[in-house]
Amino acid sequence: MNVGIIGFGSMGKMLAEKFSASGLVDRESLLLSSRSPEKMKDAKKWATLCKSNTELAASSDIVFLCLRPFDLKGVLEEIRDSLKEDALLVSLNGSVSFKNLEKSLSDASYEAEEASGKNPAPHKIAKVIPSVTAEVDRSQTLICYNDHVTSSDKGNLKRLLICMGNVIELPEEELGMGSELVSCMPGFIASVFDVIVKASEEHTKIPHDQVVRMVLQTMIATGELMLSKDMSFEDVVTRVATPGGITEEGTKVVYEQFPKTAQVLFEKTLLKRKLTAEKAQAQFE
Ligand SMILES: NC(=O)c1ccc[n+]([C@@H]2O[C@H](COP(=O)([O-])OP(=O)(O)OC[C@H]3O[C@@H](n4cnc5c(N)ncnc54)[C@H](OP(=O)(O)O)[C@@H]3O)[C@@H](O)[C@H]2O)c1
Repeated sequence: MNVGIIGFGSMGKMLAEKFSASGLVDRESLLLSSRSPEKMKDAKKWATLCKSNTELAASSDIVFLCLRPFDLKGVLEEIRDSLKEDALLVSLNGSVSFKNLEKSLSDASYEAEEASGKNPAPHKIAKVIPSVTAEVDRSQTLICYNDHVTSSDKGNLKRLLICMGNVIELPEEELGMGSELVSCMPGFIASVFDVIVKASEEHTKIPHDQVVRMVLQTMIATGELMLSKDMSFEDVVTRVATPGGITEEGTKVVYEQFPKTAQVLFEKTLLKRKLTAEKAQAQFE
C-alpha cells in the first residue's frame, strides 16, 4: 500500500517521519510532494520524493492532504483526475466539510447530478486531527469518515495512525469540540499551570525549573493514577482534600472561581472555531 503525503509543513513532516520511523511505511511506499521541494531534500533517504502532486496522486492508495484550508481546493482540483479510483483521501483540516471536499473532487457535473438525485462520483474521504502530543507518540488523534469509506480503509488508516498514539473516532459535527479537548487542550493545560506556577513563585524561593518539574511530574502522575485506578477528577479531590484541611481551601477557590473562566474559554474558542470554519468554507464557494 502506497501512502502519499501532500504538503511537507508542520503536519506533513511529522506524519511522514512517524510513518517512516515506526517502520510502517518503507521508502518506496512513502511518497511526498510539496510546494517547496527543497524543504523535503533530507527526506529522500527514507521517502520517495514526487515531482508533482499529480504524480503522487497517481501512485498513492492513501493521500494525506497536509494543507492549509486556502490551499486545499486548488490541490483537490489539481489531483482529482490523477487519483486512483479506489484512493482514500485524508484531510488534516477539520474546518472544511466533507461536502465541500467532495465537491472539489468532482467535476462541473456534480451539482447537476446531485440535483437530479444521483449520488455523484463518490470519493472516500477521512478527516484526521492529530495533537501535538504525537511528538511523544501519545496523540489522541481524532478521525471521522464520509459515508464511502469502507471498514477495510478504516482499518488501514488506523493501523498507520496508531504509531502516534490513540485514535478516537467521532462524527463530523463533534470534531470541533473534540479538537478543543485533545488538540487545543495541551495549550489550555500549559496556560493554566503557567498561571499556577507563577502564583506559587510569589511565595517560594525554590528555583523556577524545579517548581515546573515538581508540578509537571505531579500532573502526569495524577493523570496516570486516575487512568490506572479508574478515578474521576472528583475522586482525586475527595481523596486529597480532607474536610477542613489545607487542600480543601484551595479546591474551594477553584470550584468557586474557575467555572466562569472555563465557560468564557469555550465560548470564545468555539466562536473563533465557527468563524474560522466559515472563512475556510468560503474558499469553496
Ligand atoms: N499545526 C498543527 O498543530 C495542526 C494540528 C491539527 C491539524 N492541523 C491542520 O493541518 C493542516 C496543515 O497544517 P500545518 O501546520 O502542517 O501547515 P503548514 O506548516 O503551513 O504546511 C502546509 C504545507 O503545505 C504546502 N503547500 C501549500 N500549497 C501547496 C500545494 N499547492 N501543493 C503542495 N504543497 C503545498 C506548504 O508549502 P510551503 O512550504 O511552500 O509553504 C507547506 O509545506 C491545516 O489545515 C491545519 O489546520 C494542524
